[in-house]
Amino acid sequence: MKRDLVSIRDLNKNEFMEIIKDGIRLKEERKKGIRETLLRGKVLAMIFEKPSLRTRVTFQTGIYELGGIGIYLAPLDIQIGKRESIEDVARNLSRWVGGIMARTYLHSTVVSLAENASVPVINGLSDLEHPCQILADFQTIYEKKDYIEGIKLAFIGDGNNVCHSLMLASGLLGVNMRVAHPEGYGPKEEIIRSTEKLASSSGGSITLTFDPKEAVDGVDVIYTDVRASMGQKDEAEKRRKVFAPYQVNEELTNYAESDYIFMHCLPACRGEEVTTNVIDGSHSVIYDEAENRLHSQKALMLKLMK
Ligand code: CP
Ligand code: NVA
Repeated sequence: MKRDLVSIRDLNKNEFMEIIKDGIRLKEERKKGIRETLLRGKVLAMIFEKPSLRTRVTFQTGIYELGGIGIYLAPLDIQIGKRESIEDVARNLSRWVGGIMARTYLHSTVVSLAENASVPVINGLSDLEHPCQILADFQTIYEKKDYIEGIKLAFIGDGNNVCHSLMLASGLLGVNMRVAHPEGYGPKEEIIRSTEKLASSSGGSITLTFDPKEAVDGVDVIYTDVRASMGQKDEAEKRRKVFAPYQVNEELTNYAESDYIFMHCLPACRGEEVTTNVIDGSHSVIYDEAENRLHSQKALMLKLMK
């Protein structure tokens, strides 16, 4: 049966760790000039309703390096759900390509693509989740810290798509995660419940607080993201005020472990959610995360599309 990655909940712990380890192996092989062209002749359709640098370039480069080809479908090309129904887009693409990657506004669009396609569907960011980002991020944590289970991780900011996938992956992998957010901007209840359920069998935990210092106290990883996500830019001014006490700056990072790492999915608004000296400082691993998008997604495509 075909497999999708619509949510982190589509993976079990072993599968998640296999992708991380395969990503590390593919990274080492690439540095030695070794290529595994195991997806020779395969085509990945890449649907984008929103802009992208990392997701577009890493998927297109990744499928190319595995011997296949990516087709970029821009927002105005197919106008999914407007020019043509989501179901018909999924059924047509399934007759031609070996996989579909989609970046959408509504999460239900990716779900519907997956339900109607006979080929694997990968969520390249929806309003609810960003699972591919979090595969790369845990590869990065594993490379930098040598372990994942028992890591203490604080997410500071909006309870958004990135926060949701981080929470679910933390629950799955036994990470102790804390989220500090302004009142009214927390993660969705459904995601909190799923994370608690996953954490109860992995030994992980999830704590929510309005206090960023409490969240960061003694952590190994500090993670933040933009205050206004794609589709929320008209709220940017209001959010700038609400989120002002949640900036990741040197005063806040002093509460973390001395060897903490700073993470951000990018793109970042320097001087807003994070100061320049933190994001460009010695603890920052932002470009490793970005690089690992390529390797972990190659591992993911091999798992789903081979
Ligand atoms: N982190 C990330 O998904 O970046 P893009 O929006 O540039 O794809
Ligand atoms: N939360 C951000 C992530 C961008 C990669 C957004 O959805 O815009």
